[in-house]
Amino acid sequence: MNKAVRKAVIAGNWKMNKTPKEAKELLSAVAPLVKEADCEVIACVPFVDLQTAIETTDGTNIKIGAENCHWAESGAFTGEISAPMLKEMGVEYVVLGHSERRQYFGETDETVNKRTKAALRAGLKPIVCVGELLWERECNITEEVIARQIKLDLWDVSAEELKNIIIAYEPVWAIGTGKTATAEQAEEVCAFIRATLAKLYDPAAAEAVTIQYGGSMNDGNADELLGKTNVDGGLIGGASLVAEKFAAIVKAASK
Ligand code: 13P
Repeated sequence: MNKAVRKAVIAGNWKMNKTPKEAKELLSAVAPLVKEADCEVIACVPFVDLQTAIETTDGTNIKIGAENCHWAESGAFTGEISAPMLKEMGVEYVVLGHSERRQYFGETDETVNKRTKAALRAGLKPIVCVGELLWERECNITEEVIARQIKLDLWDVSAEELKNIIIAYEPVWAIGTGKTATAEQAEEVCAFIRATLAKLYDPAAAEAVTIQYGGSMNDGNADELLGKTNVDGGLIGGASLVAEKFAAIVKAASK
């Protein structure tokens, strides 16, 4: 982290976990544990939990995010949720391009880009996820894959809009596998993302962007990962479902 130039952000991504009742319980347990945090704390929750999450965290330092949004403002898209719908509820962030969406739901860089621009238009802050498959890392094309995702996902996004975007580097092979990237691997790719942003925008704009690491980050490895200059926070899956574990990661980012 380099807190002198950018915000440290710890975000939970609950994925398809927790009913509204369980969401209330979890957030009620997390809130007192993170109230002294010296970093931004976000919980990205399933659509049906958003209202409860917003109400439960009212008056706390926890911000609420959704896990996806559609690119159209409204229309004939049965089952989808638009960015203005989320904004009106009081949602602040939205996870976009998560590898599970890319893997299981046909998400492409083109649709991630459309969703990102729609989120920005509605005044939401996108957390845009990028990351290579194990096969791509083994073939030594991690940087090509990441550069391509960054360029396409942020196509037509202005430097001004970039200020409202968080990038999450999530190597697909480290998600939910218990296999964390080493702190060196995380730093290497997060630094590469920053260098790519510097080329696409300018060095100052790139320096200001929060870049998170995600993939089996937990209370045991957060310190080391967050100790790296270009790792500005975490996007936390499994460990965000346990109040004490999530709070311990927030504590590591508050140092
Ligand atoms: P895990 O922390 O469960 O590996 O999930 C990471 C992730 O996908 C966060 O978006």
